[in-house]
Parts: sequence; structure tokens; C-alpha cells
Amino acid sequence: MGTDIAKLIQRSARLEIDDIDFDAFRTQRLDPNALRCLRYMHDVEGHTICYLRDILVTRVHRDPELTAFLACWSYEEHWHGEALARVLDAHGEASGQSRLANMRQHLPKADSLRPAIFSAISAVTKHLPAVHMAWGAVNEFSTQTGYARLIEKAKHPVLTELLRRIMRQEGRHIDFYASEAGRRLGASRSARQLTRYSLRHFWGPVGSGVMPEPEIRFLATYLFGDERGRSAAKRVDRQIDRLPGLQGLHLLDTAIGDALAHGVRAVPSAETRREDIAAAS
Ligand SMILES: [Fe+2]
Ligand SMILES: [Fe+2]
Repeated sequence: MGTDIAKLIQRSARLEIDDIDFDAFRTQRLDPNALRCLRYMHDVEGHTICYLRDILVTRVHRDPELTAFLACWSYEEHWHGEALARVLDAHGEASGQSRLANMRQHLPKADSLRPAIFSAISAVTKHLPAVHMAWGAVNEFSTQTGYARLIEKAKHPVLTELLRRIMRQEGRHIDFYASEAGRRLGASRSARQLTRYSLRHFWGPVGSGVMPEPEIRFLATYLFGDERGRSAAKRVDRQIDRLPGLQGLHLLDTAIGDALAHGVRAVPSAETRREDIAAAS
């Protein structure tokens, strides 16, 4: 195991939140848009273990270095979800296990096919680990930038501190995924071709595939639709450009352009949100 990876695994830990004043949200509430964004982030962080299900059916599970990282990664992401649950809870919102159970009851029907599909693809190519590492890098880049944007939008001191702590861990996830992706893509033309093809044709913003379409569009336009957001998204695209074979994909910028073109509804009531979830199932 490389020393960098060994160090990363040694430093893996449950997010420190004992000193975060969650009660502050009861008196200084987040505005409805920031709260809507946070619900999305809570749900996606809480879904990490389900992404792990799809990864482990591939030959990724044969590589002990990758599985060591993934064990720590899913543990850290779990606690990110729990921390965001505390914020939702302070706003009197459903959060944590009850919210996740509801979400997992309403996943798109194709979700149950994912392990079979990934396992079938893994039987015909040895390059899925490279695809997963690059995909992970793209998603960790965009997640970290999404949190930075939410800090700027919400302007809430307690949320700022909490998200900064989460971002520090996302930064370590970026280090791992980007270096693994760089190494694997650099070593193989077929890996570069398969990864580029997969990202170009199948990638969607973090959470697409499990979150309702209106929520994905809301998040994209709320966090990235203004001038600062669009340049933050372009910075993520430039980070992706630096991975071997992935130049010029413009994944984020394109996704945000699409979301802006479709427009977004106003903040939905609990009622329309339930309809959205039902419509997406
Ligand atoms: Fe996270
Ligand atoms: Fe992460």
C-alpha cells in the first residue's frame, strides 16, 4: 500500500461534531432554498452505502487497497449524512433513517438492476476500476464545490463551520480518487477510452438516478446558476480536464446549462415534493 494511501486510511475518522451548536438553527433558521439544498445533500450522503453495493460487485473488490479506502470512505460519508440530519432535525424536518427509508422505498425501478449491470460489464472489461475512480473523482470534486457554494449562499455561521469540516474530508476523498484515476488512466488507452465514453454518455450530477428531477435542477441552478456558480463549475471541469484522456468533457458546465434551460419551479411544499418522489418512482 502506498504511504499516502496508508496515511489517508490512518486519518479516516467520524466527523467531529460534538462542539457544533445545532440548536442555533432553531433560532437562526436556514432560508427555504438553503434548506431544500441541504435535504438533497443529506439524502445523497446517506445513499453512499448503496453506491458501494454497485462498486463491490465489480472487480474493484479484488483490490485490497481500493477496498481499504472504500471502507473508510463509506464510513466518513455516513457521518456526513448524520451531521446534515442534525441540521434538518433542528428545523423540525424528517431526517436520518426515517427519511432514508422513505427514499429507498421510492428509488427508480432500474435501481435494482444496477448490481447485475455492473457485474456483467465487469466480466467483459478489466477497466471498470478506472471508470469508478474517475467517476468518484468527478463526484467528489463537484460535491466539495457544492458545499463551498452552499456556504456562500446560506451565510449561516454554524452551517459554515460544519460544511468546512465536511469539505476537509471530501478533500481527502478527492486526493484518493484523483490519484488512483490518474494512475489507472495514464497506464491504459482502453481505460481512457472506456472512462471517457462512460462519463460522456452516462454521467449525471451527483444524486441523479436517485433524486427527483426537479430537485436536481433546483440544486444545479441554486448553487451554480449565477455568475460565481458558473465559474465554480468551470473550475471543476478544469480539474476533470487534468485527468488523462478526459480533457474537454465540460460535464458540469453542460449539466448546469441544461438545468438553466429547463427552468425551476419555486420551493415545493411537502405535498409537491411527495408527488415528485412518486413521479420519479
Ligand atoms: Fe460527503
Ligand atoms: Fe466524499
